[in-house]
Amino acid sequence: MDNSLLEMDLSTLPKENWWGDHDYLYKVGGFWLLPQFIQSICRVVKHFKPIPSDIILASYPKTGTTWLKSLVFSIVHRSSKHRLSINHPHDLVPTLEVQVFTTSDVVPCSENQSNRIFSTHIPYQLLSETLDSSECRVVYVTRNPKDTLVSTWHFVNKWKKALDCPWQLDVAIDKFCHGLSPCGPYYDHVMGYKKLSLERPTNVFFITYEELRADPITHVKRLGEFLGFPFEGNEQVQEVVNSCSFEVLSNYEVNRSEESPTWFQLPYNSFFRKGDVGDHKNYLSDETIERIDALTREKFHSLGFNY
Ligand code: A3P
Repeated sequence: MDNSLLEMDLSTLPKENWWGDHDYLYKVGGFWLLPQFIQSICRVVKHFKPIPSDIILASYPKTGTTWLKSLVFSIVHRSSKHRLSINHPHDLVPTLEVQVFTTSDVVPCSENQSNRIFSTHIPYQLLSETLDSSECRVVYVTRNPKDTLVSTWHFVNKWKKALDCPWQLDVAIDKFCHGLSPCGPYYDHVMGYKKLSLERPTNVFFITYEELRADPITHVKRLGEFLGFPFEGNEQVQEVVNSCSFEVLSNYEVNRSEESPTWFQLPYNSFFRKGDVGDHKNYLSDETIERIDALTREKFHSLGFNY
């Protein structure tokens, strides 16, 4: 990322309206960012120095971050069932630009400096110097763009502002297809980390929400090996998979809570909705599905990756 962008003044950045008349996303290094996170994203880019034992969970929003947090936390801290039952996954694994670098330029020192787990929605293109200069491990989760879009649409409509000004689905679709959603373009976000995973397979693990859903045992086992926490037998893997399932997690009081965390404007329960694969079919017309599929083929074709 160009260092001059780090000293940025919002008024100098390109901006585009994405919702209602007054909500804008700002373009930084080719990506559309929410204004409230731009300064902390800049702090992460400038000051975060991952140590080799760090684990970074990267994702585009609404692609399975909460699930990945619970899985990786459980892989690293075996017997985590109790902690998962009383802590929201986002409080167990903080997001760098939302919970860590909000007011400070450093990661607070914790007792245990090894195997720290953080997450981020920052695109690789903005974080390349940070990640390329470290031996830390990165796990990137992605999800079918149509389900991602529908999940984002539901999530945004839970914001207070949506009571007066709902984010219309046709607007959300059009903006998404033009790359205009928080941390978008979705396709560039995914491609950045996909390419990185092909270049540095020892450090970067790329997985899809659908793969995890279809065969969680195989992929959680692979994740354990990748992270340096291999499982001793299938029983252990099964336990992690069960304790992080949507059904189990979404029923804990802490995850059903209507209260909002200090670090975000939406209640804790907004991170758990349906957890289905293919829910877009209930919301998108055949024409929209074809429009997004064509875009997906065009964008992902070169990487031999498709949905
Ligand atoms: P839906 O809106 O389709 O239900 P993120 O965590 O990146 O914000 O993504 C949120 C999506 O992941 C939501 O999808 C949410 O329901 C789903 N999700 C949350 N926890 C999950 C879990 N343990 N297993 C599967 N999906 C989960």
